[in-house]
Amino acid sequence: MSGRASLVLAIESSCDETGVAVVESGRRILAQAVASQIALHAPAGGIVPELAARAHLRWIVPALQEVLATTGVTIGEIDAIAVTAGPGLAGSLLVGIAFAKTLAWAYRRPLVGVNHLEGHLYAAWLLDPGEPERPEPPFPLVALVVSGGHTFLVEMRDHLRYRLLGETVDDAAGEAFDKAGRLLGLGYPGGPEIAAAAARSRARDAVLPRAWLGKSYDFSFSGLKTALRRQVELELAAADRPAAEAGGRLDPARVTELAWGFQEAVVDVLATKTLRAADETAARAVVMGGGVASNVALRERIATGAAARGLPLFVPRPGLCTDNGAMIGAAGWRRFVAGERAGDDLGARPAWPLVRPGGAPDTRRPPRRGTAARAYEIALAAERDGAGGAPVPAARERTP
Ligand code: KG4
Ligand code: ZN
Repeated sequence: MSGRASLVLAIESSCDETGVAVVESGRRILAQAVASQIALHAPAGGIVPELAARAHLRWIVPALQEVLATTGVTIGEIDAIAVTAGPGLAGSLLVGIAFAKTLAWAYRRPLVGVNHLEGHLYAAWLLDPGEPERPEPPFPLVALVVSGGHTFLVEMRDHLRYRLLGETVDDAAGEAFDKAGRLLGLGYPGGPEIAAAAARSRARDAVLPRAWLGKSYDFSFSGLKTALRRQVELELAAADRPAAEAGGRLDPARVTELAWGFQEAVVDVLATKTLRAADETAARAVVMGGGVASNVALRERIATGAAARGLPLFVPRPGLCTDNGAMIGAAGWRRFVAGERAGDDLGARPAWPLVRPGGAPDTRRPPRRGTAARAYEIALAAERDGAGGAPVPAARERTP
């Protein structure tokens, strides 16, 4: 492998984005396409697993075609095919895995199964096409991964080596943002909506509780969510309005203040623990990844703390924080050069933990039966009406 750049074709379909990318030597993106399903799931206010899998099926071939056309690379010139094998939604994972296996078999290319969370970490190593070279993150480092399904802090002393410092004991940070967004009557997904509302807040004095959990590096967001719910209900009752669940809404100006208070509480805990971990492990750099790492307040808070310590911060641009194929190409290349190969028995691992064997269950559980059935009906109706349903907008992101 050494001495020659190697090309990885990477496929990501673990959740609600279909991502395909060609990445050179785990670092340089040659091209990528991401087909987002946000519009498809928005009417149901959350991801509907059956619809997600069907949309992956619909968009995976066009995404591949677009990437190959952009790069001019043929599959025969690819050195390895990397695919997300977990964690994620089983039906969605299986679409990408079956597709990758078929390509690997038809073109006789080696196949590598990638952990989605490792992808979020390695997004910090990526370079866009045409982006000037810059140094790679130095070891040892601490990395914070904050996504819709996972929230954890690890120490890395070398590539592919992780020591779990802490993780969420209940909701993932993104999940908490999404639930808070729903409570405040904001759109789906809640994270970007809360961030936008918080940016409009004026008073900036709403204080919601932080769960510090002593000296541990673990996180907990369920108490914060409950505190927000209580506050919303209290204010709705005082204004003689129906409860949030019955459609009661606070005034937009009040929503911006509570959104700010909620975001502050999440950012404060995430940033404080990450920076303390960097101090206590004598880290030489801080890395961030996952959808919530695109949150401007969080990025700024950690950037300020890292700069004060003279530590470089490596955080992908927002489009590479949320799910994409390129990050799977970055992590997949590391696994590939380390000699890892997957056989044609590669299966989906919906609860595959990055660090602890048999540990950390996937926190994004499928909705309960009644809820799932109702969400499915709403989404199907939206699909029939053509309202935000099929077709999913192709390739939300094209390489700049
Ligand atoms: O990493 P990701 O794309 O998917 C998972 O692997 O889960 O993360 C999606 C999550 C969602 O919960 C979304 O609300 C959150 O990332 N998110 C944000 C922002 N952008 C996306 N949360 C806070 N602020 C943002 N700007
Ligand atoms: Zn993700």
